Amino acid sequence: MIKKIGILTSGGDAPGMNSAIVGAIKTAQKYNKEVYLFEYGYKGLCNGIYKKINKNFKLDFANRGGTILKSARYPEFKEEKTQKKAVNFLKKIGIDALIVIGGDGSYMGAKKLSEKGINCIGLPGTIDNDISSSDFTIGFDTCLNTVVNSIDAIKETIESHDRCGVIEIMGNKCGDLTLYAGIATNADVIITKENIVSFNDAIKQLKSLKKNGKKSAIVLISEKLYNSQELVSRIEKEVGYETRLTILGHIQRGGDPTAMERFNAMRMGAYAVTLLNKNIGGVCVGLVNNKLKYQDIYKALNQKRKNQKELYDFYNLVK
Ligand code: ADP
Ligand code: F6P
Repeated sequence: MIKKIGILTSGGDAPGMNSAIVGAIKTAQKYNKEVYLFEYGYKGLCNGIYKKINKNFKLDFANRGGTILKSARYPEFKEEKTQKKAVNFLKKIGIDALIVIGGDGSYMGAKKLSEKGINCIGLPGTIDNDISSSDFTIGFDTCLNTVVNSIDAIKETIESHDRCGVIEIMGNKCGDLTLYAGIATNADVIITKENIVSFNDAIKQLKSLKKNGKKSAIVLISEKLYNSQELVSRIEKEVGYETRLTILGHIQRGGDPTAMERFNAMRMGAYAVTLLNKNIGGVCVGLVNNKLKYQDIYKALNQKRKNQKELYDFYNLVK
């Protein structure tokens, strides 16, 4: 029977991580488990940066963005010897289970620890929505709202000046933030990894809009794909719109979690403890058709990413 549960957040922080932590702690307390909080992800785990929580620990942070546990990237954790060091340390203090809130890289670490005798549960914590085993990741909804609000604001000034606005959106290698925001803001052109529109095609589309009397335009482009500034120069030269580039950047990762984010993240945090209470480990939790599901971490990591063709078709239908 698992008695002591550790929790950590790893990789890029995401709004809602705090709600998941609160959901997990409250449930653990109901099941009379001891909870240990590790700071700075796997880095803190390997360096013994943790605290045991007691009854007086205030659980008033579910509504706050970021992660109270801090987060870090710690490439050393890919090495077997570093993983062994973490396992030895956990065993020494009697922790037999760990909840890891992070993206697919963090899931790999959790799987490795599970194989070495620590029951781990992965929770999908990343703004990118790039975890195939869950319809939505913790952080995606809040980030999407931030992106949409930013686009709305940029659009007002773009329209006032008859300009074109090119907006670069974070999301690592996943286009979901750009796609969903494109639908929600009725953007004129969207360019993502799943929907590669060449600069030539984008220019063609914008020329046609301009010819039909559109005085301003909004182009959304996923990060890490093209040189966005090059697109701006080409639009100015070849289409004739005066054009401005906004790179949203880390503003996307901040902000208090939305109501749905808190709701789902708390559910996932609580569910992780329920699974551990049944001695289930080496798995990750996901929301599938609004139901909480779990599956083996390797299977989840090897699962093919959901095909968003229907949503791209929908974007083309309503734009
Ligand atoms: P995310 O979890 O958001 O995908 P990263 O890919 O940066 O972010 O991974 C976060 C951390 O997970 C890494 O810094 C590292 O500590 C750990 N990690 C990543 N890949 C592995 C791996 N193959 N084996 C063990 N740990 C890993
Ligand atoms: O994975 C989350 C994410 O914000 C990605 O969207 C982005 O590419 C990356 O992390 C940025 O990483 P960093 O915060 O290390 O600059």
